[in-house]
Amino acid sequence: MHPQSRKKYVAIVGLAIFSILISACASGSDPVEPTAAQEVGPAGGEGGEHGEDEHEPEEHMEGAHDVPDVAAAVPNPFVGDEESVAAGARLYATNCAICHGETGEGDGPAAPGLDMPPSDLHEGHVQENSDGALFYIISHGKPDTPMPAWDNVLDEDERWHVVSFLRTFQED
Ligand code: HEC
Repeated sequence: MHPQSRKKYVAIVGLAIFSILISACASGSDPVEPTAAQEVGPAGGEGGEHGEDEHEPEEHMEGAHDVPDVAAAVPNPFVGDEESVAAGARLYATNCAICHGETGEGDGPAAPGLDMPPSDLHEGHVQENSDGALFYIISHGKPDTPMPAWDNVLDEDERWHVVSFLRTFQED
C-alpha cells in the first residue's frame, strides 16, 4: 500500500502546484488592463457627468482620434502645390471659418453657440497629425462633437486642398 499512496500524494501535490502556477500566471496579466483604464478615465476631464466609460480606453486621447493607421499614412497628393493651398483657402473660408475663425484660431462667429469650442488649428496637437490623419478627421468629422463630416460636402481633392491650407497655420 505504501508505494501507491505515495504516488497519490505526489500526484495531488503536483496538481496543487500546477494550479497555483496557472492562477499566478492568470492574475499576473490581470492588473494591466484595469490600471490603464483607470488612468485614462479621469484624464478625459469632462467634468465627471458621464460616470465611467469602462470600454473606451484610448478613444479620447489627444492626437489619437481613432484615425486608422492606414488612413493616417496616406500622403497628400497635392503636397507643395500652391494652387492647392489657394483652393483650400477658399474652401476653408466658405466652410470652416464660421466655427474655426478666419485665421484658424477657433474664434469664428458660430463658436460661442457651440457645445464645445472649435479647435485652434494652429495648436501642436492638431498640426502634429499627419496629412492623412487630418484628411480623415475632416472627412469623417469628430463623433460626439459639433465637428461635422465633410465627405458628402467636399470631394476628395477639395478635402486635400483644405489640408494643404491648414498646413499654412503651422508657422504660428
Ligand atoms: C459647426 C462648427 C464647425 C465647422 C463648420 C467645422 N468645424 Fe472643425 N471642429 C469643430 C469643433 C467644435 C471641433 C472640436 C472637436 C473636439 O474638441 O474634439 C473641431 C475640430 C476640428 C479638427 C480636429 C482638431 C483637433 O482638435 O483634434 C479639425 C482638423 C477640424 N475641426 C477642421 C475643420 C475643417 C477643415 C473644417 C471645414 C471643412 C471644419 N473643421 C469645420 C467645429 C467645426
